[in-house]
Amino acid sequence: MGGAAGGVRRGSGGRDGGWGRGRTGESRGQIRRLIYSGAEAVVARPDDLRNYSKMGRVGAPTVGTTQQDLDTNGWCLIPPVAAITIADVLSPLGPISSGQCDLKPYSRESAPRGSMSSVVGTDKQPMHTDAAYRPQPPRYIALQCVDPGEAPCPTHVWTLNLGPLSKDRPDILTKTTWIAHGQGHVPFYCSIMDTLGGRVRVRFDPLCMRPMSGANKTIAEAQEFLDFYSKRIDFDWDRGALLIIDNWRCLHARGNGASGAPSRRLRRWTIGARNGLVT
Ligand SMILES: [Fe+2]
Repeated sequence: MGGAAGGVRRGSGGRDGGWGRGRTGESRGQIRRLIYSGAEAVVARPDDLRNYSKMGRVGAPTVGTTQQDLDTNGWCLIPPVAAITIADVLSPLGPISSGQCDLKPYSRESAPRGSMSSVVGTDKQPMHTDAAYRPQPPRYIALQCVDPGEAPCPTHVWTLNLGPLSKDRPDILTKTTWIAHGQGHVPFYCSIMDTLGGRVRVRFDPLCMRPMSGANKTIAEAQEFLDFYSKRIDFDWDRGALLIIDNWRCLHARGNGASGAPSRRLRRWTIGARNGLVT
């Protein structure tokens, strides 16, 4: 890893402790921080979702503010009170994939074959980007809460700090020493981080990526690097809330609690020309 520390720093929550605090920092009074798995995270509480103005926006989102939030944070949260339609918000970002998918908790036994739930069941998921097994993963994913379920079950989002990451370019992330596979797609060699037209794209899913033989790296090591270069925020869901995530810059995962929230439903859309090749 780049820098004098020579290793992944745990418990710091990121390379520069102040990154990202301008928007969601403690000083705004509605965000609390916690220590989780050695990394600092921020938690958006239900009140924050209901009161979008406290998050820095007043009124319904516009195309401009949605894109601005995505550019700044890597994600954009639209509360259930906003008078918007899905098409109004998502269409300006790029072509929306045909169909939508409702995500719900599954036991390992009942989960669709090859799905993440078939491996983790209702346990928390590992950090990942969606469709990492595709040569061109979608640029954005959108999740809308259809039903929050019977108990809290947050979604974690890790936003990569692109400045230090682009400067350091750790070999473990930039070398084409990984194989992506799954969902019936032909396996292919890839890196975890690449650059398309000056834009960083990260793909990572420990359940459908593995190091090529002789790479001498593990997926767990790669995850530590991604954790180090990112800042995590946790979203507790309210019915109707819409969360848009830059799938090239952010990783995400369902957190703990799915076993106690069998009715939890998130509706997912994917956005991106030619399944991700957005210029
Ligand atoms: Fe996902």
